[in-house]
Amino acid sequence: MLFRIQVLNTMLVGLTTVMAMKMVSAEGRDPVLHRVGGGRYSWAPHVNFTQWATNQTFYVGDWLYFGFDRYRYNVLEVNKSSYENCYERNFMKNITRGGRDVFNLTEAKPYYFICGHGYCFQGMKVAVYVRYAPSDTMPPVFRTSPPSSRAPTVTLPLFATAVSLIISFFKFQESYI
Ligand SMILES: *[C@@H]1O[C@H](CO)[C@@H](O)[C@H](O)[C@H]1NC(C)=O
Ligand SMILES: *[C@@H]1O[C@H](CO)[C@@H](O)[C@H](O)[C@H]1NC(C)=O
Ligand SMILES: *[C@@H]1O[C@H](CO)[C@@H](O)[C@H](O)[C@H]1NC(C)=O
Ligand SMILES: *[C@@H]1O[C@H](CO)[C@@H](O)[C@H](O)[C@H]1NC(C)=O
Ligand SMILES: *[C@@H]1O[C@H](CO)[C@@H](O)[C@H](O)[C@H]1NC(C)=O
Repeated sequence: MLFRIQVLNTMLVGLTTVMAMKMVSAEGRDPVLHRVGGGRYSWAPHVNFTQWATNQTFYVGDWLYFGFDRYRYNVLEVNKSSYENCYERNFMKNITRGGRDVFNLTEAKPYYFICGHGYCFQGMKVAVYVRYAPSDTMPPVFRTSPPSSRAPTVTLPLFATAVSLIISFFKFQESYI
């Protein structure tokens, strides 16, 4: 019986470690909101967005924030050639809403945005190169970030799994005694 309790303890410690690792791995890095141009209303002419973008690291799950005068400017997602040529017809997506607009960077790929009404020619264009966050590619063992307040929601189902695993382990043992 004592032996069994020790085994149970060892298993619990082991499973808790696995659970802790899973919790951390499920989290990764918190998404970052990138203010395009660096300010609150910096989607505007004569800002060097290339310079701004080179100084940022965009990861999958991050957000772009476009702050601008919605009566003058807009934000259109376009392809590479339209971006290069400031070609605003047949754009891919109109991001424009109220002038404080966000865009979710959901894929690891280049995104291209321009402003219509000819403002692209005044520099209102930005290319954003999105990559996977380091935590998405790193093996879970090397992650060290502490669990956050979101952890308990993850723990409960995992704990239930752990308990059922232990129960089935002992059922398995019993059938062989
Ligand atoms: C923007 O900045 C980049 C990098 O500093 C530079 O190469 C480019 O010429 C600038 N573009 C304009 C339009 O000033
Ligand atoms: C990049 O950002 C850092 C920190 O915000 C700033 O000190 C630096 O001047 C920026 N570099 C460029 C090229 O914009
Ligand atoms: C934004 O992107 C992240 C990462 O791909 C995703 O988890 C999240 O659900 C997205 N949110 C919205 C509102 O689309
Ligand atoms: C980019 O989009 C423009 C406008 O829709 C279209 O005419 C052009 O063929 C597209 N280019 C590529 C390489 O997809
Ligand atoms: C983009 O969407 C905004 C808001 O829905 C709308 O007012 C505007 O006309 C649209 N622009 C284009 C070029 O479709």
